[in-house]
Order: sequence, then structure tokens, then C-alpha cells
Amino acid sequence: MRIILLGFGRVGQSLARILHGDADRIVKAHGFKPQVIAIIDSHGSCQDGEGLDLDLALKTKEKYGTIAKYPKRGQRDREPTALVSESDAEVVVEATPSNYEDGEPGMSNIKTALATGKHVVAVNKGPLALAMPALLELADHRKVKFRFSGTVGAGTPFLSFAEKCLKGERIVGIRGILNGTTNYVLTRMDEASISFQKALAEAQRKGYAEADPSNDINGLDAAAKVVILANWVLKRKVSLRDVAVEGISKVSQERLKRVRAAGKRVKLIARLGDSRASVKPEEVSSSDPVCVPGTLNALTFTTEHAGDMTLVGAGAGGEQTASAIVRDLVEIRHEYLA
Ligand code: HSE
Repeated sequence: MRIILLGFGRVGQSLARILHGDADRIVKAHGFKPQVIAIIDSHGSCQDGEGLDLDLALKTKEKYGTIAKYPKRGQRDREPTALVSESDAEVVVEATPSNYEDGEPGMSNIKTALATGKHVVAVNKGPLALAMPALLELADHRKVKFRFSGTVGAGTPFLSFAEKCLKGERIVGIRGILNGTTNYVLTRMDEASISFQKALAEAQRKGYAEADPSNDINGLDAAAKVVILANWVLKRKVSLRDVAVEGISKVSQERLKRVRAAGKRVKLIARLGDSRASVKPEEVSSSDPVCVPGTLNALTFTTEHAGDMTLVGAGAGGEQTASAIVRDLVEIRHEYLA
């Protein structure tokens, strides 16, 4: 499987580490060898039709801050859409930062990849939040696979759980925590009594926050995930405009303590029902299954016949998100490239 990797930040580098370190396991377990033939970062690119040396790519990035310095095969200022459309790669992995204004550069990257007949694995939420129905239609039209399991819950397979394990059921509501950074910040402010700014700085250092962390704090990141769940799981054509969003910036330490004394916690709760979609801070009983600490995400799916079920797992982090990319690659391989 020949892959182009767009974006070589925390997630892209974690993916390179997994593909390099787990190459034998992937070949043995799944019968194929993912081969990265091009990588692009914000300064340039490197390309090798025979497959890049991922260890060398990681060392180059660490030493020079850009992949453009990859020995002999690196170059500055390569336009990603040109590289994608001219390449014979089978899969494009889109891991550039999420942008909720116009979705770029991810929007053009994904459209170009799908339009030129390549399967796409995206962890970039911007294009999905803004134009999911159109992108799914384009993939369908070109008969290629568009996967994005890492956009919701990082490595925790909320989307696959709903899509595959709840087949035949009617999901009537989804409720829970969809942003690891804000959950981490609220937990640290509450349990360690540290300030909002300090807790956020920790989340950034640990690689949980978005490139622009205001998208976590103001609820936009969780709202984007609500849009993805609505379109993919509930088959509702929802966009960001349809989600009522309030972030956590007004949640004070005093409120956290008061709520805790009453046996509850303040959490940034996402809700998706038949006609409404929202993200806002709510007071949740500490015995509620979605009341989880740290960077955990938790979603309760309410079904018509089987009742409620809750899935919990790490919701942020480079390695966790890269694990979801590997899952999507394996699925594409099994369904389309066998
Ligand atoms: N910034 C996101 C979060 C990363 O904190 O949940 C995972 O999408």
C-alpha cells in the first residue's frame, strides 16, 4: 500500500513511528506493508517512490524542524495538491491542523485526493465539520474509501462502534464528552486546584490540544465531532451552524468545588438527539458513566431496543490518533486493495 502523508506534526510523526516500529506485526497480522512514498509538512516535502526511510524522516524532522531536509529527496515549498494529483499512491493520509474557517489546507487536499481516485484517511476535522455530505458524495462518486475514525475520540473507536456494533438498532441519542483537552483542564482545575491557564499549558505540552487551543476551549472541536457523528452515525446532514456551542472559559474553580460538594462534576457535554445538537458545560452526577476524568472521552449511545451503552477511552494524543489511522488503513486494505 503506497501512502502520501500530509502533515508531519505530532500525529503524523506518531504514525511514522508506528509504521516503522510495527511493520512486521502489520505484515504478519494483515498481509500488507504500508509504504510511505511522500511526506509534506508546512515547509516542504520529501518523496521516494521506493518508500521513504521513516526512521530517517523522523530524525530529519527532529534535527531540522522540517522534512524538506530529508537527504537527497527533500525539497522546499512543494504544493500538496500537485503532489497528490501527480502521484500514483493508493492512499492519502490527511493530518494537517483542523481549520474551521474554510477547512484549508485539508479541504483541497482531501478533494484532490478523492477526485484523483485515491482512498483518504483523515484526522483533520475542519473539512468534515464544514462539508461532510459533499465529501462523502465525492468519495462515493469516485468509488474510493473515505475513512476518518481518528476524528472522533482519537484512538477510541466511537464511530466504528456505532456503525458496526449497533447495526440494526436505532440510535435515538448520543451524549458525553468529546474533547480531551477541556476534560483534562477541568479535571486538573478541580482535583489539583491549578489555574485554567496552567492546566491548559499542561494539555498543550502533552500534545492533547489543537494547534489553536481556543478551538478546544470554545467548544468548536467538540462541535465538529458532533457534526461528524450526526452525519455518519445518525445520517443527518448537520453542519457546524446547527450546533449550539458554549465553551468552558466561564467555568470557575469556585463552581467546580461547589458542584463537587454536591456529588457532581462540571463537564463539557456534547448532546445529539433527533432534532438538537449542542455542546456546553453541564453538571453531571459523579456516578454517571460519562463522568470520566483526565483526557478520557466517554459517549453513551441510547438505542431504541438495547438501552444505553457507554464507550470510554483516551480521546486525545498523537499516538492514540495515529492508532486510528492504522485501523483505517487496515480496513481500506481489507475492503478495497486485497
Ligand atoms: N484537541 C482534541 C481534544 C484532540 O483535546 O480532544 C483530539 O481530537
